[in-house]
Amino acid sequence: MGALIARLPLLLLALGLWLPAPTHAARILGIFPTPSISHQLPYQAVLKALAARGHQITVISPDPLKEPVANYSDVDLSFSYEDFRQSITFAGMADVNPIRMMKMMTPTILSVTEKQLASKPIQDFLKYNVSDGFDLIFLEWFGYEAYYGLIHAVGSPPIVGIVSLGGSAIQYNAIGNPNNPAINPEVLAGYSDRMTFWQRLDNAYTNMWMTWHWERVMFPENEKMLRKYFGPTPPPVRDTARNLSLLILCNHWSTDYPRALLPNVVQLTGLHVREETRPLPADLQAWLDGAEQGVVYFSLGSNVMSKDLPPEKLQAILRALARLPQRVLWKFENDELPGRPPNVRVAKWLPQQDILAHPNVRLFITQGGLQSFQETAYHGVPVLVIPFMGDQKYNAAKMVSSGIGVQLEFKDLNEETMFASITKVLNDPGYAERMRRFSGVYREHKARSLETALWWVEYVLRHEGAPHLRAASLRLAWYELLLLDVAAAVALAALAALLLAAFALRRLWRALRPSTAPAHHARLRKDQ
Ligand SMILES: *[C@@H]1O[C@H](CO)[C@@H](O)[C@H](O)[C@H]1NC(C)=O
Ligand SMILES: *[C@@H]1O[C@H](CO)[C@@H](O)[C@H](O)[C@H]1NC(C)=O
Ligand SMILES: *[C@@H]1O[C@H](CO)[C@@H](O)[C@H](O)[C@H]1NC(C)=O
Repeated sequence: MGALIARLPLLLLALGLWLPAPTHAARILGIFPTPSISHQLPYQAVLKALAARGHQITVISPDPLKEPVANYSDVDLSFSYEDFRQSITFAGMADVNPIRMMKMMTPTILSVTEKQLASKPIQDFLKYNVSDGFDLIFLEWFGYEAYYGLIHAVGSPPIVGIVSLGGSAIQYNAIGNPNNPAINPEVLAGYSDRMTFWQRLDNAYTNMWMTWHWERVMFPENEKMLRKYFGPTPPPVRDTARNLSLLILCNHWSTDYPRALLPNVVQLTGLHVREETRPLPADLQAWLDGAEQGVVYFSLGSNVMSKDLPPEKLQAILRALARLPQRVLWKFENDELPGRPPNVRVAKWLPQQDILAHPNVRLFITQGGLQSFQETAYHGVPVLVIPFMGDQKYNAAKMVSSGIGVQLEFKDLNEETMFASITKVLNDPGYAERMRRFSGVYREHKARSLETALWWVEYVLRHEGAPHLRAASLRLAWYELLLLDVAAAVALAALAALLLAAFALRRLWRALRPSTAPAHHARLRKDQ
Protein backbone atom coordinates (compact mmCIF):
# COMPACT_ATOMS: atom_id res chain seq x y z
CA MET A 1 0.00 0.00 0.00
CA GLY A 2 2.85 2.36 0.96
CA ALA A 3 4.56 1.52 -2.31
CA LEU A 4 1.35 2.26 -4.16
CA ILE A 5 1.00 5.66 -2.51
CA ALA A 6 4.64 6.44 -3.29
CA ARG A 7 3.96 5.51 -6.88
CA LEU A 8 0.73 7.51 -7.14
CA PRO A 9 2.27 10.65 -8.66
CA LEU A 10 3.96 8.46 -11.27
CA LEU A 11 0.71 6.66 -12.04
CA LEU A 12 -1.17 9.93 -12.38
CA LEU A 13 1.63 11.22 -14.55
CA ALA A 14 1.49 8.14 -16.75
CA LEU A 15 -2.20 8.80 -17.25
CA GLY A 16 -1.58 12.43 -18.00
CA LEU A 17 -3.73 13.45 -15.05
CA TRP A 18 -1.07 15.47 -13.29
CA LEU A 19 -1.80 18.42 -15.58
CA PRO A 20 -5.10 20.30 -15.48
CA ALA A 21 -7.67 18.89 -17.91
CA PRO A 22 -7.30 20.28 -21.44
CA THR A 23 -9.77 23.05 -22.25
CA HIS A 24 -10.93 21.35 -25.40
CA ALA A 25 -10.31 18.00 -27.09
CA ALA A 26 -8.24 18.37 -30.24
CA ARG A 27 -8.02 16.19 -33.34
CA ILE A 28 -4.37 15.17 -33.73
CA LEU A 29 -2.81 13.36 -36.70
CA GLY A 30 0.47 11.46 -36.25
CA ILE A 31 2.60 10.68 -39.34
CA PHE A 32 5.42 8.27 -38.44
CA PRO A 33 6.64 6.56 -41.62
CA THR A 34 9.79 4.69 -40.43
CA PRO A 35 9.31 0.92 -40.26
CA SER A 36 11.30 0.41 -37.06
CA ILE A 37 9.68 -0.30 -33.72
CA SER A 38 12.43 1.54 -31.84
CA HIS A 39 11.37 4.74 -33.63
CA GLN A 40 7.68 4.11 -33.06
CA LEU A 41 7.72 3.35 -29.31
CA PRO A 42 8.37 6.92 -28.08
CA TYR A 43 5.90 8.41 -30.57
CA GLN A 44 3.21 5.97 -29.47
CA ALA A 45 3.86 6.78 -25.81
CA VAL A 46 3.16 10.51 -26.38
CA LEU A 47 0.08 9.93 -28.54
CA LYS A 48 -1.42 7.33 -26.20
CA ALA A 49 -1.04 9.79 -23.32
CA LEU A 50 -2.75 12.49 -25.44
CA ALA A 51 -5.61 10.06 -26.20
CA ALA A 52 -5.97 9.39 -22.48
CA ARG A 53 -6.40 13.14 -21.98
CA GLY A 54 -9.42 13.06 -24.30
CA HIS A 55 -7.84 14.15 -27.59
CA GLN A 56 -8.84 12.28 -30.74
CA ILE A 57 -5.77 10.62 -32.25
CA THR A 58 -5.22 9.21 -35.74
CA VAL A 59 -1.84 7.69 -36.56
CA ILE A 60 -0.38 6.86 -39.97
CA SER A 61 2.42 4.34 -39.33
CA PRO A 62 3.75 0.84 -40.02
CA ASP A 63 3.08 -0.11 -36.38
CA PRO A 64 -0.64 -0.06 -35.57
CA LEU A 65 -1.25 -0.59 -31.86
CA LYS A 66 -1.50 -4.26 -30.91
CA GLU A 67 -3.99 -3.51 -28.14
CA PRO A 68 -6.55 -0.88 -29.19
CA VAL A 69 -6.77 2.29 -27.12
CA ALA A 70 -9.88 4.50 -26.85
CA ASN A 71 -9.77 7.68 -28.98
CA TYR A 72 -6.80 6.33 -31.01
CA SER A 73 -7.15 4.97 -34.56
CA ASP A 74 -4.50 3.68 -36.93
CA VAL A 75 -3.87 3.88 -40.66
CA ASP A 76 -1.96 0.64 -41.08
CA LEU A 77 1.21 0.81 -43.21
CA SER A 78 2.76 -2.40 -41.86
CA PHE A 79 3.59 -3.49 -45.43
CA SER A 80 6.54 -1.04 -45.27
CA TYR A 81 8.50 -3.42 -43.03
CA GLU A 82 9.02 -5.78 -45.96
CA ASP A 83 10.66 -3.08 -48.18
CA PHE A 84 12.85 -1.85 -45.38
CA ARG A 85 14.19 -5.29 -44.43
CA GLN A 86 14.88 -6.16 -48.07
CA SER A 87 16.79 -3.00 -48.92
CA ILE A 88 19.06 -2.72 -45.87
CA THR A 89 21.14 -5.24 -43.90
CA PHE A 90 22.14 -3.41 -40.76
CA ALA A 91 24.63 -6.08 -39.68
CA GLY A 92 26.76 -5.05 -42.69
CA MET A 93 26.89 -1.35 -41.74
CA ALA A 94 29.37 -1.45 -38.88
CA ASP A 95 32.29 -0.03 -40.81
CA VAL A 96 30.69 2.56 -43.10
CA ASN A 97 31.19 6.24 -42.33
CA PRO A 98 28.16 8.42 -41.57
CA ILE A 99 27.99 10.07 -44.97
CA ARG A 100 28.14 6.76 -46.79
CA MET A 101 25.51 5.44 -44.38
CA MET A 102 23.18 8.37 -45.16
CA LYS A 103 23.74 7.80 -48.88
CA MET A 104 22.85 4.12 -48.43
CA MET A 105 19.68 4.97 -46.50
CA THR A 106 18.44 7.74 -48.80
CA PRO A 107 16.94 5.55 -51.57
CA THR A 108 15.21 3.45 -48.89
CA ILE A 109 13.70 6.50 -47.16
CA LEU A 110 12.48 7.88 -50.49
CA SER A 111 11.02 4.59 -51.71
CA VAL A 112 9.30 3.95 -48.36
CA THR A 113 7.67 7.41 -48.68
CA GLU A 114 6.61 6.86 -52.28
CA LYS A 115 5.14 3.38 -51.65
CA GLN A 116 3.27 4.65 -48.61
CA LEU A 117 1.76 7.62 -50.46
CA ALA A 118 0.68 5.34 -53.34
CA SER A 119 -0.79 2.71 -50.97
CA LYS A 120 -4.47 1.96 -50.53
CA PRO A 121 -4.58 2.89 -46.81
CA ILE A 122 -3.24 6.41 -47.56
CA GLN A 123 -5.37 6.84 -50.66
CA ASP A 124 -8.45 5.77 -48.65
CA PHE A 125 -7.50 8.18 -45.89
CA LEU A 126 -7.26 10.99 -48.46
CA LYS A 127 -10.67 10.00 -49.85
CA TYR A 128 -12.63 9.49 -46.62
CA ASN A 129 -10.88 11.12 -43.72
CA VAL A 130 -9.31 14.45 -44.68
CA SER A 131 -12.55 16.40 -44.62
CA ASP A 132 -12.70 15.92 -40.83
CA GLY A 133 -9.81 18.35 -40.54
CA PHE A 134 -7.14 18.22 -37.82
CA ASP A 135 -5.95 20.72 -35.21
CA LEU A 136 -2.35 19.49 -34.98
CA ILE A 137 0.13 17.30 -36.86
CA PHE A 138 2.83 15.14 -35.27
CA LEU A 139 5.41 14.42 -37.95
CA GLU A 140 8.50 12.24 -37.77
CA TRP A 141 10.99 14.83 -39.09
CA PHE A 142 13.47 12.83 -41.10
CA GLY A 143 13.23 12.93 -44.89
CA TYR A 144 9.48 12.43 -45.29
CA GLU A 145 8.75 15.92 -46.65
CA ALA A 146 6.42 14.66 -49.44
CA TYR A 147 3.90 14.10 -46.63
CA TYR A 148 3.51 17.90 -46.48
CA GLY A 149 1.03 17.38 -49.34
CA LEU A 150 -1.14 15.33 -47.00
CA ILE A 151 -0.71 17.93 -44.26
CA HIS A 152 -1.90 20.58 -46.71
CA ALA A 153 -4.86 18.35 -47.62
CA VAL A 154 -6.01 18.24 -43.97
CA GLY A 155 -5.90 22.06 -43.70
CA SER A 156 -2.25 22.91 -42.80
CA PRO A 157 -2.62 22.86 -39.01
CA PRO A 158 0.47 23.57 -36.86
CA ILE A 159 3.16 20.88 -37.03
CA VAL A 160 5.07 19.30 -34.16
CA GLY A 161 8.24 17.62 -35.46
CA ILE A 162 9.39 14.57 -33.53
CA VAL A 163 12.55 12.45 -33.84
CA SER A 164 13.22 9.21 -31.99
CA LEU A 165 16.91 10.21 -31.71
CA GLY A 166 18.61 13.40 -30.64
CA GLY A 167 18.71 16.27 -33.14
CA SER A 168 20.94 16.58 -36.16
CA ALA A 169 21.95 19.59 -38.29
CA ILE A 170 18.84 19.15 -40.43
CA GLN A 171 16.31 19.31 -37.60
CA TYR A 172 18.09 22.22 -35.94
CA ASN A 173 18.13 24.05 -39.29
CA ALA A 174 14.40 23.42 -39.64
CA ILE A 175 13.54 25.12 -36.35
CA GLY A 176 16.37 27.67 -36.47
CA ASN A 177 18.25 26.35 -33.42
CA PRO A 178 21.96 27.20 -33.19
CA ASN A 179 24.15 24.17 -33.83
CA ASN A 180 27.87 24.83 -33.48
CA PRO A 181 29.94 21.93 -34.86
CA ALA A 182 32.86 22.94 -32.61
CA ILE A 183 30.97 21.66 -29.54
CA ASN A 184 27.87 19.85 -30.86
CA PRO A 185 28.78 16.45 -32.32
CA GLU A 186 26.62 15.33 -35.26
CA VAL A 187 24.36 12.45 -34.35
CA LEU A 188 25.85 10.21 -37.06
CA ALA A 189 29.50 11.14 -36.39
CA GLY A 190 30.45 9.11 -33.28
CA TYR A 191 32.26 11.84 -31.31
CA SER A 192 31.74 13.12 -27.79
CA ASP A 193 31.41 16.88 -27.19
CA ARG A 194 35.17 17.14 -26.45
CA MET A 195 36.63 16.98 -29.95
CA THR A 196 40.20 17.17 -31.20
CA PHE A 197 41.11 19.40 -34.15
CA TRP A 198 40.62 16.58 -36.70
CA GLN A 199 37.36 15.50 -35.09
CA ARG A 200 36.07 19.08 -35.25
CA LEU A 201 37.09 19.25 -38.89
CA ASP A 202 35.29 15.99 -39.66
CA ASN A 203 32.29 16.98 -37.53
CA ALA A 204 31.97 20.35 -39.29
CA TYR A 205 32.17 18.58 -42.64
CA THR A 206 29.51 16.01 -41.68
CA ASN A 207 27.28 18.83 -40.43
CA MET A 208 27.61 20.78 -43.69
CA TRP A 209 27.22 17.63 -45.76
CA MET A 210 23.91 16.81 -44.05
CA THR A 211 22.61 20.33 -44.72
CA TRP A 212 23.76 20.09 -48.34
CA HIS A 213 22.25 16.62 -48.75
CA TRP A 214 18.84 17.90 -47.69
CA GLU A 215 19.07 20.94 -49.95
CA ARG A 216 20.31 19.04 -52.99
CA VAL A 217 18.64 15.61 -52.65
CA MET A 218 15.96 15.23 -49.99
CA PHE A 219 14.00 18.44 -50.60
CA PRO A 220 14.01 18.20 -54.45
CA GLU A 221 13.14 14.47 -54.47
CA ASN A 222 10.33 15.01 -51.98
CA GLU A 223 9.14 18.06 -53.91
CA LYS A 224 8.77 15.81 -57.01
CA MET A 225 6.78 13.22 -55.04
CA LEU A 226 4.62 15.89 -53.45
CA ARG A 227 3.69 17.32 -56.88
CA LYS A 228 3.01 13.81 -58.22
CA TYR A 229 0.55 12.90 -55.44
CA PHE A 230 -0.85 16.28 -54.39
CA GLY A 231 -0.63 18.54 -57.46
CA PRO A 232 0.32 22.22 -57.62
CA THR A 233 -1.53 23.72 -54.62
CA PRO A 234 0.59 22.78 -51.57
CA PRO A 235 3.42 25.26 -50.78
CA PRO A 236 7.02 24.23 -51.65
CA VAL A 237 8.47 21.60 -49.27
CA ARG A 238 11.30 23.94 -48.27
CA ASP A 239 8.74 26.41 -46.85
CA THR A 240 6.75 23.85 -44.87
CA ALA A 241 10.02 22.28 -43.66
CA ARG A 242 10.80 25.61 -41.93
CA ASN A 243 7.32 25.84 -40.39
CA LEU A 244 7.55 23.70 -37.24
CA SER A 245 5.78 24.95 -34.12
CA LEU A 246 7.66 22.59 -31.84
CA LEU A 247 10.49 20.08 -32.17
CA ILE A 248 10.48 17.09 -29.82
CA LEU A 249 13.74 15.17 -29.51
CA CYS A 250 13.80 11.80 -27.77
CA ASN A 251 17.33 12.19 -26.45
CA HIS A 252 18.08 14.38 -23.46
CA TRP A 253 21.26 15.82 -21.99
CA SER A 254 21.22 13.12 -19.32
CA THR A 255 22.25 10.65 -22.04
CA ASP A 256 23.61 13.34 -24.40
CA TYR A 257 25.51 16.63 -23.83
CA PRO A 258 24.46 20.07 -22.60
CA ARG A 259 23.68 22.38 -25.53
CA ALA A 260 21.87 25.67 -26.22
CA LEU A 261 18.21 25.05 -27.09
CA LEU A 262 15.37 27.34 -28.16
CA PRO A 263 12.27 27.19 -25.95
CA ASN A 264 10.36 25.31 -28.70
CA VAL A 265 12.95 22.52 -28.83
CA VAL A 266 12.02 20.02 -26.15
CA GLN A 267 14.19 17.11 -25.07
CA LEU A 268 12.46 14.04 -23.68
CA THR A 269 13.84 10.73 -22.62
CA GLY A 270 12.78 7.20 -21.84
CA LEU A 271 9.16 7.65 -22.93
CA HIS A 272 8.94 3.95 -23.67
CA VAL A 273 10.70 2.86 -20.46
CA ARG A 274 8.26 1.26 -18.02
CA GLU A 275 8.60 2.10 -14.36
CA GLU A 276 6.95 -1.11 -13.21
CA THR A 277 8.51 -4.48 -14.04
CA ARG A 278 6.42 -7.36 -15.31
CA PRO A 279 6.91 -10.95 -14.20
CA LEU A 280 9.36 -12.98 -16.32
CA PRO A 281 8.53 -16.48 -17.62
CA ALA A 282 9.06 -18.83 -14.65
CA ASP A 283 11.96 -20.83 -16.16
CA LEU A 284 13.83 -17.67 -17.19
CA GLN A 285 13.28 -16.14 -13.76
CA ALA A 286 14.67 -19.31 -12.09
CA TRP A 287 17.67 -19.32 -14.46
CA LEU A 288 18.49 -15.65 -13.70
CA ASP A 289 17.94 -16.16 -9.94
CA GLY A 290 20.31 -19.13 -10.00
CA ALA A 291 23.19 -17.27 -11.64
CA GLU A 292 25.55 -17.03 -8.67
CA GLN A 293 28.30 -15.32 -10.68
CA GLY A 294 25.85 -12.95 -12.31
CA VAL A 295 24.43 -12.65 -15.82
CA VAL A 296 25.65 -11.00 -19.01
CA TYR A 297 22.72 -9.92 -21.18
CA PHE A 298 23.48 -9.67 -24.90
CA SER A 299 21.21 -8.14 -27.56
CA LEU A 300 21.95 -6.19 -30.71
CA GLY A 301 18.43 -4.75 -30.79
CA SER A 302 15.66 -5.14 -33.35
CA ASN A 303 17.46 -3.96 -36.53
CA VAL A 304 20.85 -5.66 -36.29
CA MET A 305 20.28 -9.43 -36.30
CA SER A 306 22.80 -11.54 -34.35
CA LYS A 307 21.99 -14.42 -36.71
CA ASP A 308 23.27 -12.33 -39.67
CA LEU A 309 26.74 -11.80 -38.17
CA PRO A 310 29.60 -13.33 -40.22
CA PRO A 311 30.28 -16.95 -39.06
CA GLU A 312 33.88 -16.24 -37.96
CA LYS A 313 32.70 -13.36 -35.71
CA LEU A 314 29.96 -15.59 -34.32
CA GLN A 315 32.48 -18.30 -33.47
CA ALA A 316 34.84 -15.77 -31.84
CA ILE A 317 31.98 -14.47 -29.68
CA LEU A 318 30.98 -18.00 -28.64
CA ARG A 319 34.55 -18.89 -27.67
CA ALA A 320 34.84 -15.70 -25.59
CA LEU A 321 31.50 -16.31 -23.86
CA ALA A 322 32.46 -19.93 -23.08
CA ARG A 323 35.38 -18.66 -20.97
CA LEU A 324 33.13 -16.65 -18.63
CA PRO A 325 32.01 -17.90 -15.22
CA GLN A 326 28.82 -15.82 -15.70
CA ARG A 327 25.65 -16.98 -17.40
CA VAL A 328 24.95 -15.29 -20.72
CA LEU A 329 21.49 -14.56 -22.09
CA TRP A 330 21.56 -13.76 -25.82
CA LYS A 331 18.75 -12.50 -28.04
CA PHE A 332 19.45 -14.66 -31.05
CA GLU A 333 16.99 -14.94 -33.91
CA ASN A 334 17.46 -18.63 -34.80
CA ASP A 335 16.18 -21.56 -32.72
CA GLU A 336 19.55 -23.24 -32.67
CA LEU A 337 23.00 -21.86 -32.25
CA PRO A 338 25.58 -24.50 -33.21
CA GLY A 339 28.51 -24.60 -30.79
CA ARG A 340 26.51 -22.92 -28.01
CA PRO A 341 28.44 -23.28 -24.69
CA PRO A 342 26.49 -24.57 -21.67
CA ASN A 343 26.54 -21.16 -19.88
CA VAL A 344 24.82 -19.44 -22.84
CA ARG A 345 21.07 -19.35 -23.28
CA VAL A 346 19.44 -18.01 -26.45
CA ALA A 347 15.93 -16.82 -27.29
CA LYS A 348 14.44 -15.12 -30.36
CA TRP A 349 12.76 -12.48 -28.28
CA LEU A 350 13.34 -11.37 -24.71
CA PRO A 351 11.55 -8.90 -22.39
CA GLN A 352 14.60 -6.63 -22.27
CA GLN A 353 13.40 -4.10 -19.70
CA ASP A 354 12.41 -6.78 -17.19
CA ILE A 355 15.72 -8.59 -17.71
CA LEU A 356 17.74 -5.40 -17.17
CA ALA A 357 15.75 -4.90 -13.96
CA HIS A 358 16.95 -8.27 -12.58
CA PRO A 359 19.56 -7.70 -9.84
CA ASN A 360 21.85 -10.47 -11.15
CA VAL A 361 22.36 -8.78 -14.54
CA ARG A 362 25.81 -7.21 -14.34
CA LEU A 363 26.61 -6.32 -17.95
CA PHE A 364 24.62 -5.46 -21.06
CA ILE A 365 26.29 -6.11 -24.42
CA THR A 366 24.45 -3.76 -26.75
CA GLN A 367 24.67 -2.25 -30.23
CA GLY A 368 24.09 1.13 -28.52
CA GLY A 369 20.66 2.01 -29.93
CA LEU A 370 19.14 4.94 -28.05
CA GLN A 371 16.15 3.00 -26.71
CA SER A 372 18.44 0.29 -25.31
CA PHE A 373 20.71 3.00 -23.86
CA GLN A 374 17.73 4.59 -22.10
CA GLU A 375 16.57 1.25 -20.69
CA THR A 376 20.01 0.39 -19.34
CA ALA A 377 20.48 3.93 -17.98
CA TYR A 378 17.19 3.53 -16.12
CA HIS A 379 18.12 0.14 -14.66
CA GLY A 380 21.76 1.08 -14.06
CA VAL A 381 23.48 -1.81 -15.88
CA PRO A 382 26.96 -0.97 -17.29
CA VAL A 383 27.63 -1.78 -20.95
CA LEU A 384 29.90 -3.21 -23.57
CA VAL A 385 28.84 -1.38 -26.73
CA ILE A 386 29.47 -2.74 -30.24
CA PRO A 387 27.98 -0.02 -32.47
CA PHE A 388 26.76 -0.67 -36.04
CA MET A 389 24.85 2.22 -37.57
CA GLY A 390 22.69 5.33 -37.17
CA ASP A 391 23.34 7.07 -33.85
CA GLN A 392 24.93 4.00 -32.24
CA LYS A 393 28.51 5.31 -32.45
CA TYR A 394 27.31 8.62 -31.03
CA ASN A 395 25.68 6.86 -28.07
CA ALA A 396 28.80 4.70 -27.66
CA ALA A 397 30.94 7.86 -27.39
CA LYS A 398 28.64 9.11 -24.62
CA MET A 399 28.80 5.80 -22.74
CA VAL A 400 32.60 5.68 -22.95
CA SER A 401 33.12 9.35 -22.04
CA SER A 402 30.81 8.91 -19.02
CA GLY A 403 32.80 5.87 -17.86
CA ILE A 404 29.73 3.60 -17.78
CA GLY A 405 31.07 1.09 -20.27
CA VAL A 406 33.60 0.19 -22.93
CA GLN A 407 33.36 0.18 -26.70
CA LEU A 408 34.50 -2.53 -29.10
CA GLU A 409 34.59 -1.85 -32.85
CA PHE A 410 33.00 -4.68 -34.77
CA LYS A 411 35.96 -4.86 -37.14
CA ASP A 412 38.30 -5.42 -34.14
CA LEU A 413 36.11 -8.12 -32.62
CA ASN A 414 37.84 -11.46 -32.01
CA GLU A 415 37.88 -13.95 -29.14
CA GLU A 416 40.55 -12.04 -27.21
CA THR A 417 39.13 -8.51 -27.61
CA MET A 418 35.63 -9.73 -26.80
CA PHE A 419 36.78 -11.57 -23.66
CA ALA A 420 38.99 -8.66 -22.56
CA SER A 421 36.22 -6.07 -23.04
CA ILE A 422 33.67 -8.10 -21.10
CA THR A 423 35.99 -8.85 -18.18
CA LYS A 424 37.19 -5.24 -18.06
CA VAL A 425 33.69 -4.02 -17.18
CA LEU A 426 32.86 -6.99 -14.94
CA ASN A 427 36.09 -6.87 -12.93
CA ASP A 428 36.39 -3.10 -12.41
CA PRO A 429 33.71 -1.93 -9.92
CA GLY A 430 34.20 1.67 -11.17
CA TYR A 431 31.92 1.00 -14.15
CA ALA A 432 29.02 -0.15 -11.99
CA GLU A 433 29.59 2.72 -9.55
CA ARG A 434 29.62 5.42 -12.28
CA MET A 435 26.58 3.79 -13.86
CA ARG A 436 24.75 3.99 -10.51
CA ARG A 437 25.30 7.77 -10.40
CA PHE A 438 24.49 8.15 -14.11
CA SER A 439 21.24 6.27 -13.51
CA GLY A 440 20.28 8.60 -10.66
CA VAL A 441 20.54 11.64 -12.92
CA TYR A 442 18.80 9.83 -15.75
CA ARG A 443 15.81 8.71 -13.66
CA GLU A 444 15.16 12.22 -12.40
CA HIS A 445 14.74 13.57 -15.94
CA LYS A 446 12.94 10.55 -17.32
CA ALA A 447 10.27 10.93 -14.65
CA ARG A 448 9.18 14.32 -16.05
CA SER A 449 9.38 13.54 -19.77
CA LEU A 450 5.80 12.62 -20.54
CA GLU A 451 4.39 15.47 -18.49
CA THR A 452 6.69 17.89 -20.35
CA ALA A 453 5.59 16.51 -23.72
CA LEU A 454 1.89 16.87 -22.92
CA TRP A 455 2.29 20.39 -21.56
CA TRP A 456 4.14 21.58 -24.67
CA VAL A 457 1.77 19.96 -27.13
CA GLU A 458 -1.24 21.52 -25.43
CA TYR A 459 0.61 24.86 -25.24
CA VAL A 460 0.96 24.77 -29.04
CA LEU A 461 -2.75 23.94 -29.32
CA ARG A 462 -3.81 26.71 -26.91
CA HIS A 463 -1.73 29.31 -28.73
CA GLU A 464 -2.56 28.31 -32.31
CA GLY A 465 0.86 27.06 -33.30
CA ALA A 466 2.74 29.39 -30.92
CA PRO A 467 4.10 31.65 -33.70
CA HIS A 468 5.65 33.89 -31.01
CA LEU A 469 8.29 31.19 -30.48
CA ARG A 470 9.41 31.21 -34.08
CA ALA A 471 13.17 31.91 -34.23
CA ALA A 472 14.28 35.02 -36.12
CA SER A 473 17.11 32.94 -37.59
CA LEU A 474 14.54 31.38 -39.93
CA ARG A 475 14.12 34.73 -41.70
CA LEU A 476 17.80 35.09 -42.49
CA ALA A 477 19.91 33.76 -45.34
CA TRP A 478 22.80 31.53 -44.22
CA TYR A 479 25.41 34.26 -44.76
CA GLU A 480 23.34 36.71 -42.70
CA LEU A 481 23.05 34.17 -39.89
CA LEU A 482 26.83 33.63 -39.90
CA LEU A 483 27.22 37.44 -39.92
CA LEU A 484 29.31 37.10 -43.08
CA ASP A 485 27.64 40.21 -44.53
CA VAL A 486 28.49 42.15 -41.36
CA ALA A 487 32.05 40.79 -41.37
CA ALA A 488 32.37 41.74 -45.05
CA ALA A 489 31.09 45.27 -44.33
CA VAL A 490 33.53 45.67 -41.40
CA ALA A 491 36.39 44.31 -43.53
CA LEU A 492 35.47 46.71 -46.33
CA ALA A 493 35.31 49.66 -43.93
CA ALA A 494 38.71 48.70 -42.49
CA LEU A 495 40.13 48.38 -45.97
CA ALA A 496 38.69 51.77 -46.96
CA ALA A 497 40.20 53.35 -43.82
CA LEU A 498 43.58 51.81 -44.63
CA LEU A 499 43.47 53.01 -48.22
CA LEU A 500 42.45 56.44 -47.03
CA ALA A 501 45.33 56.54 -44.54
CA ALA A 502 47.79 55.37 -47.21
CA PHE A 503 46.48 58.00 -49.58
CA ALA A 504 46.77 60.73 -46.94
CA LEU A 505 50.31 59.66 -46.04
CA ARG A 506 51.30 59.75 -49.70
CA ARG A 507 49.85 63.23 -50.04
CA LEU A 508 51.74 64.30 -46.93
CA TRP A 509 54.95 62.79 -48.29
CA ARG A 510 54.52 64.60 -51.59
CA ALA A 511 53.73 67.86 -49.83
CA LEU A 512 56.98 67.58 -47.82
CA ARG A 513 59.12 66.32 -50.74
CA PRO A 514 60.18 69.64 -52.45
CA SER A 515 62.28 70.66 -49.41
CA THR A 516 64.10 67.29 -49.30
CA ALA A 517 64.37 66.78 -53.11
CA PRO A 518 67.80 68.48 -53.68
CA ALA A 519 69.53 66.34 -51.04
CA HIS A 520 67.96 63.25 -52.47
CA HIS A 521 69.14 64.10 -55.99
CA ALA A 522 72.56 64.97 -54.75
CA ARG A 523 72.88 61.55 -53.09
CA LEU A 524 71.72 59.83 -56.26
CA ARG A 525 74.32 61.66 -58.26
CA LYS A 526 77.05 60.71 -55.81
CA ASP A 527 76.03 57.00 -55.99
CA GLN A 528 76.46 57.04 -59.76
C1 LIG B 1 -12.21 9.92 -25.43
O1 LIG B 1 -12.38 11.31 -25.65
C2 LIG B 1 -13.54 11.85 -25.06
C3 LIG B 1 -13.61 13.32 -25.40
O2 LIG B 1 -13.22 13.56 -26.70
C4 LIG B 1 -13.49 11.68 -23.57
O3 LIG B 1 -14.70 12.13 -23.00
C5 LIG B 1 -13.29 10.22 -23.23
O4 LIG B 1 -13.07 10.10 -21.84
C6 LIG B 1 -12.07 9.65 -23.95
N1 LIG B 1 -11.99 8.23 -23.69
C7 LIG B 1 -10.96 7.71 -23.01
C8 LIG B 1 -11.06 6.25 -22.73
O5 LIG B 1 -9.99 8.34 -22.65
C1 LIG C 1 -11.93 7.19 -41.87
O1 LIG C 1 -13.30 7.38 -42.10
C2 LIG C 1 -14.04 6.19 -42.09
C3 LIG C 1 -15.47 6.55 -42.54
O2 LIG C 1 -15.95 7.65 -41.83
C4 LIG C 1 -14.01 5.59 -40.68
O3 LIG C 1 -14.75 4.40 -40.64
C5 LIG C 1 -12.56 5.31 -40.35
O4 LIG C 1 -12.46 4.84 -39.00
C6 LIG C 1 -11.71 6.55 -40.50
N1 LIG C 1 -10.31 6.17 -40.34
C7 LIG C 1 -9.52 6.78 -39.50
C8 LIG C 1 -8.11 6.27 -39.45
O5 LIG C 1 -9.86 7.69 -38.78
C1 LIG D 1 2.70 27.14 -41.58
O1 LIG D 1 1.86 26.74 -40.51
C2 LIG D 1 0.69 27.51 -40.36
C3 LIG D 1 -0.06 26.96 -39.17
O2 LIG D 1 0.73 27.01 -38.01
C4 LIG D 1 -0.15 27.43 -41.63
O3 LIG D 1 -1.28 28.28 -41.52
C5 LIG D 1 0.69 27.85 -42.84
O4 LIG D 1 -0.07 27.64 -44.02
C6 LIG D 1 1.95 27.01 -42.90
N1 LIG D 1 2.80 27.48 -44.01
C7 LIG D 1 3.46 26.64 -44.83
C8 LIG D 1 4.30 27.27 -45.89
O5 LIG D 1 3.39 25.43 -44.74
